[in-house]
Amino acid sequence: MNKQADALVLGIESSCDETAVAIYHRQRGLLAEALHSQIDLHAAYGGVVPELASRDHVRRLPGLLSQACAQAEVELSELSAVAYTAGPGLVGALLAGSAMAAGLAQGLGKPLIPVHHMEGHLLAPLMSEPSLDFPFVALLVSGGHTLLVACQALGDYRLLGQSLDDAAGEAFDKTAQLLGLPYPGGPALSQLAGRGQAGRFPLPRPLTRQRSLDFSFSGLKTAVANQVAKAGGVQDYPDLAADFELAVVETLAKKCAWALQACDSKRLLIAGGVAANQPLRQALQQVCQSHGAEFFVPAPALCTDNAAMIAHVGALRLADGQTRSAPVRARWPLSDLQPPGRAA
Ligand code: KG4
Ligand code: ZN
Repeated sequence: MNKQADALVLGIESSCDETAVAIYHRQRGLLAEALHSQIDLHAAYGGVVPELASRDHVRRLPGLLSQACAQAEVELSELSAVAYTAGPGLVGALLAGSAMAAGLAQGLGKPLIPVHHMEGHLLAPLMSEPSLDFPFVALLVSGGHTLLVACQALGDYRLLGQSLDDAAGEAFDKTAQLLGLPYPGGPALSQLAGRGQAGRFPLPRPLTRQRSLDFSFSGLKTAVANQVAKAGGVQDYPDLAADFELAVVETLAKKCAWALQACDSKRLLIAGGVAANQPLRQALQQVCQSHGAEFFVPAPALCTDNAAMIAHVGALRLADGQTRSAPVRARWPLSDLQPPGRAA
């Protein structure tokens, strides 16, 4: 059997406020994942505090590693490689995971694989969808990024459009804060919207007049702030939340339809934390139906940050294994990536 087909890869994710360790087998799939969310730690501050995040990653990683190994019934010595998120993300947080990964790889004498966090999100649906193959169009919507990407092959990604200001998740989070909701705002705002009725508050669909594939959500947030100032009170917030969610969903859906047409593609995939949003999943399902395209979306737990997606990319990128640690990167354009074996 070829060595890569049998690969057992450990993945470590620590780019923001989730600490996670997973073990992925190239053929048997995900064997274990241990994850700790720092939501409670940061909630009092209304957002992620980088220094607290880094310290908590350092504190949690050893326990999560033991938990993942026990769950997978795997000894560290059986691992083929150690993959970790090398960026983009908070530098201190990334360093916690990369130091752990580098120590493990050196101690075990195994290759170390730096993984791009967004490539992790992008390819997460491949774990559960064996029928999904390149090429496809992907909408990546997270707290830090909103990207439309033409994915030609592993490591060959062409940027079609991106957010010029706030990311979609950031818009959810900031708008949730305006409505007095707890951090992280996305799920809370979506829940509030579920209790409201859209149609009362006129909100823009930014950058949809021309067929632009770029996004801009900061004006939408300001429009909500203006409506909050005018709204009668908290009893109006569910309807306002519903109108906000509808504006984001319709804007994303329209651009996905244009991207499918521009690439003449019959496959659309969504990934990233905002891909957990139910109305968005339903709207994109409809876009795909009307374009005769297939729609791929990971299970909600694989949409938000996790280490399974990092171990998975590690297994696909074994050829990128290094013997020494690489620097972490706060910013890292997805289009800088290369196919395995030709990593920059
Ligand atoms: O990918 P992710 O877990 O972390 C980043 O890499 O940013 O995405 C987190 C973002 C947050 O902004 C969060 O509010 C948003 O995803 N999010 C949602 C939902 N679940 C998470 N936004 C809208 N609806 C949701 N159900
Ligand atoms: Zn993420």
